Amino acid sequence: MQKKNKLYSAVITGVGMYVPEKVLDNKYFESILDTNDEWIRTRTGISERRVLEEGGTSVLATKAVEDLLKSTNTDPLDVDVIIIATITPDMAFPATAALVQDNIGAKNAWGYDLSAACSGFLFAMQSGTSLIESGQYKKVVVVGAEKMSSILDYTDRNTCLLFGDGAAAVLLEPSEDLNIGVQDSILRTDGSGKDALFMKAGGSLHPASHETVDNREHFVYQDGKAVFKVAVKGMADISVEIMEKNGLKSEDIAYLVPHQANLRIIDATAKRMGIPPEKVTINIAKYGNTTAATIPLCLAEYYRDGKFKKGDNLILAAFGAGYTWGSMHIVWGID
Ligand code: COA
Repeated sequence: MQKKNKLYSAVITGVGMYVPEKVLDNKYFESILDTNDEWIRTRTGISERRVLEEGGTSVLATKAVEDLLKSTNTDPLDVDVIIIATITPDMAFPATAALVQDNIGAKNAWGYDLSAACSGFLFAMQSGTSLIESGQYKKVVVVGAEKMSSILDYTDRNTCLLFGDGAAAVLLEPSEDLNIGVQDSILRTDGSGKDALFMKAGGSLHPASHETVDNREHFVYQDGKAVFKVAVKGMADISVEIMEKNGLKSEDIAYLVPHQANLRIIDATAKRMGIPPEKVTINIAKYGNTTAATIPLCLAEYYRDGKFKKGDNLILAAFGAGYTWGSMHIVWGID
């Protein structure tokens, strides 16, 4: 992204979030699986996660967007675009974005879903940023929303306790001050990682059948060890790369906002960047891995906690299925 070649910068002007009320703590998993609270906390950093009992991802996304519109005093009729990053859409089609558009009465908006797993929010932010920078759109809502509980095998201790449900949203608007807002991003996809983290059935290759159900193929499969190795390297490398590309030193960065898959991956990334733990947004203990929702949930909670100031340099970073990964440099734009 060339700062000097654009007329507008895409600035986050508001945040919204929603997590369902029902909590599954580590004790619950002790009661259904051969695992224990100590293992889960020390190996992942997770203490509890939320689960939506009724409805699909559109319920979570709608509530997060309603929170966003309310807190920014935005009329739904003024929303131009809704982009929803999710791997757990209500259904294959129509898009969850269409369901949310209807729920909130955004009658002048168009929208679409974007599938990039744990990097989904970053990819959606880049899409939204381009729409704003083009000068064509003034209010773009970018959402990360997942009902991960709908694709988890609660008999598989390797996966089910890692993930949770939740949604969060940001509003992107144009600013002529090019020194605030999204400054740069580096995004990557490497489909050779497809065998390490995937859901086998339910798509056009293996449509739902008695066999796919019997074989438990409608659930997340993860080779945790393989993913862990590439995630540590991928997230750290791309975060250091964006710092170097933008001439940022550790002390210039107010917060690293990392995807929340495993506290050990987050710690390794921060360490490589030279960022101390107090400058890293962390809420994995409360929500687990909410896939596309982790980064916007961090943005919403830390902003509302008064942690971000206008002019702060934030580095967003993610790694996920695909593989997909990326980093984004944002200068916080709200007072
Ligand atoms: N409870 C108790 N023990 C468990 C367990 C559980 N839930 N899951 C695995 N174990 C055991 C294993 O069987 C193994 O035992 P062994 O040494 O006797 O064989 C031991 O704990 C270590 O297992 P391992 O798979 O090596 O654990 P790990 O340290 O790699 O942690 C993950 C597992 C899944 C937490 C970790 O690999 C991870 O976070 N992976 C990446 C996740 C990620 O980033 N995903 C990308 C974005 S979604």
